[in-house]
Amino acid sequence: MTDNVSTGQGADDVIVEMKDVHAGYLPGVNILNGANLVARRGELIGIIGPNGAGKSTLLKAIFGMVQVRDGDITVKGESIVGLKADKLVRRGVAFVPQTNNVFPSLTIEENLQMGLYQNPKIYAERLEFVSDIFAELGKRLKQRAGSLSGGERQMVAMSRALMMDPSVLLLDEPSAGLSPVRQDDAFIRVSDINKAGVTTIMVEQNARRCLQICDRGYVLDQGRDAYEGSGRDLLNDPKVIGLYLGTLGTDAA
Ligand SMILES: Nc1ncnc2c1ncn2[C@@H]1O[C@H](COP(=O)(O)OP(=O)(O)OP(=O)(O)O)[C@@H](O)[C@H]1O
Ligand SMILES: [Mg+2]
Repeated sequence: MTDNVSTGQGADDVIVEMKDVHAGYLPGVNILNGANLVARRGELIGIIGPNGAGKSTLLKAIFGMVQVRDGDITVKGESIVGLKADKLVRRGVAFVPQTNNVFPSLTIEENLQMGLYQNPKIYAERLEFVSDIFAELGKRLKQRAGSLSGGERQMVAMSRALMMDPSVLLLDEPSAGLSPVRQDDAFIRVSDINKAGVTTIMVEQNARRCLQICDRGYVLDQGRDAYEGSGRDLLNDPKVIGLYLGTLGTDAA
């Protein structure tokens, strides 16, 4: 609680909270086994961990795509467990899955409009916000999303999610499948989005890069949050390096 005095943050600043979440796809099989997470207003949260740890499942649990069997997930203090996608969108939750995250047969402009179907009036204002971060898209609004490169599609997907002015943006592996240069760009854009004030929760395979840009990170292992800390502390934690970052972690500082 002393934190509240020093940082000016209080309970009102908690945007997303997961408490002891157990969730799974198949009856009797839980993938999340007591996962906890807090994202405060304006934070960039990174989630790393081995393949199959449940990172994507954690985002899907927030977005109502996997059954939450125990525990609670709140957005701005209210439980969202059991809500469908349209209700979650109204509560300000935006989710960009790793794949199939644009409508390829639609133009960039139509993709952006789809992101706003619940509130088309703010189109011009939101287009300006998104164009500040993704300037190149604003110039190519009539191009079909299916003709774009992987990195460009990722930008459209993030832009579409940002159109609704979300309270929290959930990103599943924004750098996956991109060339090294495009990966660098993806991390810079995520950073830019967050600097523009958007609370963001990002899952990433590229653990070191993720921890370098995030405010706080969680290491997820076997469906539980095994470690939590500032990006810098996790990058320098010998246990995290040994178990999750490999030898590359030693030159991370
Ligand atoms: N739709 C599904 N039905 C049944 N099991 C699933 C489903 N989706 C994922 N799983 C299982 O849940 C476990 C965790 O998967 P998840 O995709 O959350 O892991 P991840 O940490 O995102 O892994 P990766 O780093 O490979 O993306 C895996 O064992 C996976 O097989
Ligand atoms: Mg995944």
